[in-house]
Amino acid sequence: MHREDFPMLNQDIIYLDNGATSLKPKSVIAKQVDYYENYSANAHRGDYDISYKVDLEYENTRDLVRDFIGAKRKEEIVFTSGTTDSLNLIVNGFFANLLEAGDEILITKMEHASNVMPWFRIAGETGAVIKYIPLDDNYFVTLENVKASITPKTKVISLAEITNVVGDIRPIKEITKYAHEKDIFVVVDGAQSVPHKKINVTDSDIDFLAFSAHKMLGPTGVGVMYAKYELMQNIEPVNLGGGMNESFDSPEKMVLKEVPTRLEAGTPNIAGVIGLGEAIKYLNKIGMENIEKYEKNLRNYFIEKLVSIPHIDILNLESDSGIVAFNVDGIFAEDVAYYLNKYNICVRAGNHCAKLTKDILGVTNSIRVSLYFYNTESEIDNLIELLKDKDKIMKEMI
Ligand code: ALA
Repeated sequence: MHREDFPMLNQDIIYLDNGATSLKPKSVIAKQVDYYENYSANAHRGDYDISYKVDLEYENTRDLVRDFIGAKRKEEIVFTSGTTDSLNLIVNGFFANLLEAGDEILITKMEHASNVMPWFRIAGETGAVIKYIPLDDNYFVTLENVKASITPKTKVISLAEITNVVGDIRPIKEITKYAHEKDIFVVVDGAQSVPHKKINVTDSDIDFLAFSAHKMLGPTGVGVMYAKYELMQNIEPVNLGGGMNESFDSPEKMVLKEVPTRLEAGTPNIAGVIGLGEAIKYLNKIGMENIEKYEKNLRNYFIEKLVSIPHIDILNLESDSGIVAFNVDGIFAEDVAYYLNKYNICVRAGNHCAKLTKDILGVTNSIRVSLYFYNTESEIDNLIELLKDKDKIMKEMI
């Protein structure tokens, strides 16, 4: 769908690494160029026309994000540099002040680095304990396993809505419902889900959400941290500086602005934020339900063909997102990626920044195909042809 909108697709490539980053449509690129060429002033600081236009566009994106994720208020949206930054802000700005020795943090071994490492550090600093929710035979999180993992000490559950290796879709709404009955906070890493399916933070009663612009057609270096308004009030800024203060006279007399400005110190990535707004407009035009449906069909098309290749071991047969992880028997994942690259096919191989998954999957590395709505069945056919012939892979992988 809509391939003509993506300049990168004018090249002779098959881009199947959308879990790492997505391609950008012309409108998103043009929107950023327009900012740099025509109204390149700072945000929230100037008293002249082009500066007002910056404020308008920047804040318009906040409104677009609010509507896109179903938040109640624009003050619940903070711009960050990406999912990693957002999760670090949630952990260090909110949970650092809340967690005490013995409190329990529930995650899984399928999370990627930025939903693990900040928790590891805060556990070390506060004496809180990391616990892992057991996964079922398909590596899925079930509500039953979440329930069984909760103790009176559980303070927070932090989960990707869709994981970046297994690509399973977690039952977030059911989890938040149960967690809130026990006064447990729920943090959702939406890096792999927000670009691919409709999310509604209000309906799902999510406390905190993190996601990145660059995986949803937007620019790199921009992300979003959503928090419920009442929780947002209790997030301590990790960064202090320009734009977020009313006044400062002495260490005792620093007056900070209200949220969300309080959490956006320094000159933000203005072009990036404005570009994110354009990406959301683009996604809205196609419709998230259509994107989800298209990707699901394409995944099924791919899986149907992949299962018939005897030397392929699929790690996540039962998942239903556009992420497919597999290995070729006896060949290193990186060697297969290298071989595919010779045919201009871009896939990711390795541990995918999710270094605990090996304890569960039993393999350190895999090849990951991650789809988006501009991928096609004919691209899949090309990939399948190249994977079918193991002797050819062996011969050409180096
Ligand atoms: N976390 C991103 C990925 O899965 C970068 O590729």
